[in-house]
Amino acid sequence: MKKRIKVLTIFGTRPEAIKMAPLVNGLKQEEDIDSYVCVTAQHREMLDQVLQLFNIQPDFDLDIMKENQTLTQITSRVLVGLDEVISKVSPDIILVHGDTTTTFAGSLAAFYHNVKVGHVEAGLRTYNKFSPFPEEMNRTLTGHIADFHFAPTERNKQNLIKEGIAEEKIFLTGNTVIDALMDTSKKEYEFSCTQLDEIDFINNRIIMVTCHRRENLGEYMNNIFLALKDIVLRYKDVEIVFPVHLNPKVQKHADELLKGIGRVHLIKPLEYLPIVKLMSKSYLIITDSGGLQEEAPSLGKPVLVVRKETERPEAIEAGTVKLAGVERENIVRMASELLDDKDKYDAMAQAVNPYGDGKASQRIIEIIKAQVY
Ligand code: UD1
Ligand code: UDP
Repeated sequence: MKKRIKVLTIFGTRPEAIKMAPLVNGLKQEEDIDSYVCVTAQHREMLDQVLQLFNIQPDFDLDIMKENQTLTQITSRVLVGLDEVISKVSPDIILVHGDTTTTFAGSLAAFYHNVKVGHVEAGLRTYNKFSPFPEEMNRTLTGHIADFHFAPTERNKQNLIKEGIAEEKIFLTGNTVIDALMDTSKKEYEFSCTQLDEIDFINNRIIMVTCHRRENLGEYMNNIFLALKDIVLRYKDVEIVFPVHLNPKVQKHADELLKGIGRVHLIKPLEYLPIVKLMSKSYLIITDSGGLQEEAPSLGKPVLVVRKETERPEAIEAGTVKLAGVERENIVRMASELLDDKDKYDAMAQAVNPYGDGKASQRIIEIIKAQVY
């Protein structure tokens, strides 16, 4: 009789949850797989929003989040919490996603327990260990612990090969974010939250903004927020909708520089369904988020990335994303180009999808079934 495969999926933050949800729900359907989910809850409210939408009930919840947590605290709490979970489940494989501290600590815990690791969204690199910080190193270290590498793009696969990872352990799958996005965009949704009621989607152009990266906190985030202020003051038909990350440091920056400015809406983080609908109603997206750089191109929305570099150059090459840096004047100049010049805007607003076809999760499941025994 064929042995059943025990899979333990570990994640902890909003983007991991969104991108792991299609995989977790796919694993649940498999007859030969016993699927367990452990959330670290490195994020709490922002994670729970996603669990609810995708109807995921974790088997284990480490509930580690604390206000203003440090990287060391996250790492150590995850390691300690997972010790017991891994001993109890005794999985054949542990799946982790991406580049967060949960990802790295999860793969390290798996290694300490001699359990195989499957790394979803493997092989993205900037080759600058401080940018994104600490994500570049989290992803690299996880890549060197992992036994199976699920690379979204050919470039990601080549990065891993260059680092000496055996080619037969790297699988080109596409990014599961596209699975989540395709599934979610199909759903009917009418904006019903009071937060969005006052926005004039008909007469105004909406710029959706998110900004939260650790390496942007401080001077760079000030520059970015001042640039947003300049843009909204210059263009009377622009409204900025900014769902502010719950990190108190980000909230403080945003409140200090943007609160009370007309046509700037600082709102609470939105659930995934409304954020996808908001993206599709926006004219332009300004962000330092990783996930949004992957989602917006397939919705045909131009993106300005407010970071110095990106580990996701595919959409830049395809022409729908531009790196705007972290200097106030440059961000204003690049946003103005897209607000003033219809040809430049149209050239960027094409739906391209370098990150996947919506079938990444199914591919990953088939690989697990073929490779893990
Ligand atoms: C984390 C990830 C980052 C990812 C981001 C996605 C690390 C080191 N960073 O960064 O890679 O891009 O998540 O959003 O893994 N908070 C809440 N409620 C929440 C979530 C956060 O109150 O639901 C607050 C807490 O005070 C927490 C702080 O935000 O201490 C920071 O959260 P943390 O996970 O440490 O860092 P992020 O910037 O969210
Ligand atoms: N997102 C969301 N609600 C929001 C802002 C973002 O659901 O208010 C989604 C977004 O569509 C994307 C993911 O969260 O799928 C990105 O997460 P985040 O920006 O927190 O992290 P990153 O992608 O930078 O790691």
